[in-house]
Amino acid sequence: MDNLILVNKTHSIGVDYVPTDLVACNKEQNAKMNYIAYLREEAYRNAMDLRNDAKSNDYDIYVYSGFRSGAHQQRVFENFLEQYTKDLIQKYPSESLEEIKKQAYLLTTRHVARPGYSEHQTGLAMDIACFYKGNYNEDISNIGEIEWMHDNAHKYGFILRYPEGFEEITGYKFEPWHYRYIGEEHATKVVKKGLVYEDYYSKILGLK
Ligand code: DAL
Ligand code: ZN
Repeated sequence: MDNLILVNKTHSIGVDYVPTDLVACNKEQNAKMNYIAYLREEAYRNAMDLRNDAKSNDYDIYVYSGFRSGAHQQRVFENFLEQYTKDLIQKYPSESLEEIKKQAYLLTTRHVARPGYSEHQTGLAMDIACFYKGNYNEDISNIGEIEWMHDNAHKYGFILRYPEGFEEITGYKFEPWHYRYIGEEHATKVVKKGLVYEDYYSKILGLK
């Protein structure tokens, strides 16, 4: 499986796929991390180079979530689905359960991939997080780190995978924390051309 693989709502990686060269990122990160993130070796090396470069600019960027197995993704999906279902039942007590379930599914699929359809299963995607003003922060949408990532991630082969305003193409809402490794050459082209990966994959690489 190469770095350019497309995984999205219509391109499954297969629910059982597990990369053979996963590396645990935790050692290189802060001891405060209580979750061990794994990336494929090349993506890992680049993520750590990115982290060190960011650090020398006083930005503290962590890999919060890397590889997720099909089973792990299923748990993530089911947890969100359950939470949305509960919230909607509370908010709309007279709505039919069928309608509640439908809406909960729609809300979930706007930001969580079904098992077998998540880029996290490639071992090439990472959700980043930062310590901001002393607090561990998963919501990085309004802080300097995200600007730094915007300007620099491609140098390490990473692209912002779900930019704002492209949900119709990518299938997902804006995720400022989700980056995908495709290698420096391609990442730089994606950024220069201002494309989302689906368009780069089909229109520039000519792949299906
Ligand atoms: N949040 C992304 C779309 C995933 O679940 O893979
Ligand atoms: Zn992600």
